[in-house]
Amino acid sequence: MEKKNIDWTNLGFAYIKTDKRFVSNFQNGKWDDGALISDATITIGECAGVLQYSQSCFEGMKAYTTEDGHIVTFRPDLNGERMEDSCRRLEMPVYPKERFVDAIVKTVEANEAWVPPYGSGATLYIRPYMFASGSVIGVKPANEYQFRVLVTPVGPYFKGGVKPLTLCISDFDRAAPNGTGHIKAGLNYAMSLHASVTAHANGFDENMFLDPATRTKVEETGGANFLFVTKDNKVVTPKSSSILPSITRRSLMAVAEKYLGLEVEERTVYVEELKDFAECGLCGTAAVISPVGKIVDHGKEICFPSGMTNMGPVIQKLHDTLTGIQMGRIEAPAGWIKVIK
Ligand code: PLP
Ligand code: COI
Repeated sequence: MEKKNIDWTNLGFAYIKTDKRFVSNFQNGKWDDGALISDATITIGECAGVLQYSQSCFEGMKAYTTEDGHIVTFRPDLNGERMEDSCRRLEMPVYPKERFVDAIVKTVEANEAWVPPYGSGATLYIRPYMFASGSVIGVKPANEYQFRVLVTPVGPYFKGGVKPLTLCISDFDRAAPNGTGHIKAGLNYAMSLHASVTAHANGFDENMFLDPATRTKVEETGGANFLFVTKDNKVVTPKSSSILPSITRRSLMAVAEKYLGLEVEERTVYVEELKDFAECGLCGTAAVISPVGKIVDHGKEICFPSGMTNMGPVIQKLHDTLTGIQMGRIEAPAGWIKVIK
C-alpha cells in the first residue's frame, strides 16, 4: 500500500479530505446496512433537526501504525458505548456499538494510504458522528438520522507539541448540573466557542471550566479532562457528573496504577488546592496528555513546579507508557488494542 504524499511530521490538527467515509441512514425506525462512499458532501433538507435544534453528537478516536507495521485503534468499544449514551440522552436512535466498531474498521481500512507511518508523530483521527436529518419545526426529536465516520490525518492538537500550556479560569460555564456535560453532544462545543475565542484573545491556550453551581470545583477544558499529580506522586482526577468520561483519562488512571505503581484518586478537586499540586496535564484523544504549566485565576498566577519548559516527570511517564501501548512498544492490557490490519 503506497502512502499519500504528505509531510506527516509537520501536520497540525486540521481537516484533510480523505478518500472514503462510512454512511448509514435511519429511516422508518431502523438503520440501513450502511456503505463506504466517496462523496464528502452531505445534502439534507432545510428543516433538518440538526440545523434547527442542534440534534447531533460525535466521537473522537485515533488509528495508529505500530512499531511492527500494524494499524490499530485504541479501545473503540468504549467510544461505541459512549456514543450510545450520547444518543439516549439526545433522544437519537442508538447506533449499536458492535456496528460502530465495524464501521470504524471499514473506514480505516478504506483509507489505509492516509494512516500516518510509525514514528512520524502523526495519527489518523477518526470522527464518528450522528445528526438528525429528518425535518422538525416543533421542538421534538426528528424521525430520520444519519450516522457517518470520517477520518483525517492529524498532528498534535496544541501547537508547539509538548510545550506546557497556560490556562485561564473561565467566567463562562461549559455544562449545567444535570445537563449534557457527560455526553459528547455537538451543542456542548458550540457553546464553548465564545469562551475559547475569548481565552485565546486574552493570550491563553485553553480554559479551565469550573462547576457552575458553586464555581469552587475544577471540571475540565473544552476538549480534555484534567489530571493532577500531588507532591507525593499521587495521580488525581476531578470527579463530577458533568464532565465527559474521557477514555484517555480512564486509561491513564489504569496505567498509573498498574504500570507505574502509583496511587490514583478520582475525587472532587477544589480550585483552592490547585497551588498544592506538583504537575498538571490535559488528557484526551486529541490532547493525548498535554502538560499545563500555569493557570491564571483572574490575575492570580498558579505556577506548577514542573515549570514552563518540559513535561513534569510523572506526566512524562504516563505519556510515554500510554503512547507506548498505543504504538505497540509496550504490551497492552487485554482488550485495549483492536488490530485493523
Ligand atoms: N472532555 C471533552 C470535553 C472532550 O471533548 C474530550 C474529547 O473527546 C475529552 C474530554 C477526552 O475524552 P477522550 O479521552 O475519550 O478522547
Ligand atoms: C477528542 O479528543 O477526540 C475530541 O473530541 C476533542 C476535541 C477535538 C473536540
